Amino acid sequence: MDSSRVRVSVPATSANLGPGFDCLGLALSLYNTVEMSLVEDGVAVEILGEGHHSLPGDEKNTIVQAAYAVFDRVGERPSGLRIASANGIPPGSGLGSSAAALVSGIVAANTMLGDPLGRDDVLNLAVEMEGHADNAAPALLGGLVISSMTEDGLAVRRVAISPLQVALVTPAISTSTHEQRAALPSMVAFGDAAANIGRALLVVQALADADYDLLGVVMKDRLHQPYRRKSIPAYEQVVNAAYASGAAAVAISGAGPSLIAFAPSGLEAIGAAMAASFRQHAKIEARSRVLSIDTEGARITMRQDLAAPSSASDGAEQ
Ligand code: HSE
Repeated sequence: MDSSRVRVSVPATSANLGPGFDCLGLALSLYNTVEMSLVEDGVAVEILGEGHHSLPGDEKNTIVQAAYAVFDRVGERPSGLRIASANGIPPGSGLGSSAAALVSGIVAANTMLGDPLGRDDVLNLAVEMEGHADNAAPALLGGLVISSMTEDGLAVRRVAISPLQVALVTPAISTSTHEQRAALPSMVAFGDAAANIGRALLVVQALADADYDLLGVVMKDRLHQPYRRKSIPAYEQVVNAAYASGAAAVAISGAGPSLIAFAPSGLEAIGAAMAASFRQHAKIEARSRVLSIDTEGARITMRQDLAAPSSASDGAEQ
């Protein structure tokens, strides 16, 4: 049966960037591509690539839940939905895979329905479902995004930064963001909060100016990394390996366990050194990647026959 189909690609994101806990996020050139089709009945989810063994292949899948949230808000659930997700983003790795799933489900369903939700509504729904904005906002908007939940709603701005590449290392262990957040203290010292505010602001300026010396000084967190580093095996050795091979700054990506390193050059070597250190000191496999900044965010790469599902035409594919 021919049907309405939408394909959306959503980038990975690295949240926090050291001191910017829950407010800074950077979109990266690693993608999940989700194709959503309306079918006669039932829900089918096919996961290809990262997470194909671990992510749910039924209605519990985050993409389906996100799509249902849109259908429930502006219309009604379709009788049948088919999702095929080709995943480049490893789940549970600190690279924003759950935000990518939420954003892809919301954007695809919204596109199916003719875009009843504006960009702010899409973002607010993703943030409501995720609980924090620092992955969802750059996943939707691309680039470096600052976000803050205020008494008047979510405040979000995308900040222009110099083109740059980063080295990521992802050890073969997965982390639950929920558990990593639960492990944080409910109170923090005033001095730690004050230090983080200034440093987070300077991280943004350092990225805008590609000022790696400044980045190295200010990408030092006092609110969450002191707690989370304990759950990353050989954290200290891996960070030291990054600096020894030329990194200017290193941070835990999101809630971990991936680490992100910044340097003006030599990123392949830095990534390789971090991965080798995980293998040597923690005895765990690790994968390194050199990624660019994604500046576009979530994008529709194909839409077919959205207005008239019964007369689908492959010629409509873009
Ligand atoms: N800011 C969130 C956290 C990001 O650190 O818990 C999770 O990816």
